[in-house]
Amino acid sequence: MNLKGRSFLTLKDFTPEEIQGLVDLAADLKAKKKQGITGQSLKGKNIALIFEKPSTRTRCSFTVACVDEGGHPEYLGRDDIQLGHKESVEDTARVLGRMFDGIEFRGFKQENVEKLAKYSGVPVWNGLTDTYHPTQILADFLTLTEQFGSLKGLNFVFVGDGRNNMANSLMIGCSKMGVNFTILAPKSLWPGKELVEECEVYAAAAGSTITLSDELDAVKGADAVYTDVWCSMGEEALAAERIAILKPYQVNAELMARTGKDSTIFMHCLPAVKGNEVTADVFDKYADVVFDEAENRMHTIKAVMVATLGNC
Ligand code: CP
Ligand code: NVA
Repeated sequence: MNLKGRSFLTLKDFTPEEIQGLVDLAADLKAKKKQGITGQSLKGKNIALIFEKPSTRTRCSFTVACVDEGGHPEYLGRDDIQLGHKESVEDTARVLGRMFDGIEFRGFKQENVEKLAKYSGVPVWNGLTDTYHPTQILADFLTLTEQFGSLKGLNFVFVGDGRNNMANSLMIGCSKMGVNFTILAPKSLWPGKELVEECEVYAAAAGSTITLSDELDAVKGADAVYTDVWCSMGEEALAAERIAILKPYQVNAELMARTGKDSTIFMHCLPAVKGNEVTADVFDKYADVVFDEAENRMHTIKAVMVATLGNC
């Protein structure tokens, strides 16, 4: 796998072999870190961390991973720089590209992370946009691999807001990796037709399936049941409407029982709103998996930076 100089904007741009390569590299970096071994792969590299939206996991993961590998991270919050206020994305990209070796961007528009990559001339990593959250999927894949040994053939069900950044990115990632992927959501929150059709092509190549359903029995046979907040960042005004429409799709003990399996795990990208998308009892029962997932953000983000920018 040679990803040197590449940006990480959406999983659409990566082959199944490259995605697997990043997960494998993350597992290796994680094992080394547990032994107290960190690298110098980013020595001398300056990394800009642009956050238009708040973050706990993604910010901390980029920061810790960068420092672990000998690099220098610089946090640039929404009120710290001119981006979006007094300066175009293109001009900010050209300036940052002359000073930094890599740029992480979390914000609203996918178009902006793509512009940053186009105009900066350095690797740009998508730390979440309204449309995609690709680094989260690598952490989820590392966690699934730790739980089940491998990805291919697993049955994965995403429950809740089936058209948000997590649902979109999980559908792309799962279909590429041969994971049977189901969206369980009310029809009004199903993913866009164009993206589903694109993912159906990936799934056909990988020998897996994509299913959209609004019936709770869609969780039957699931190896993993995954959910995310009902209102993503920037959608707060829609809270009442979303709660009303998604209440029947809460991940609770009854829904977990509908899988018909004792071995099913529950996953969540976090932050969670307990009492909405998941009950506190289900969350607590699977807390070890959920917090492994959170920790794995750091190891997988480290893998992305090392693979695309690292010295070795
Ligand atoms: N999962 C995730 O991206 O968390 P943060 O919003 O805290 O970064
Ligand atoms: N869909 C959520 C994911 C948070 C990690 C959001 O965009 O707020």
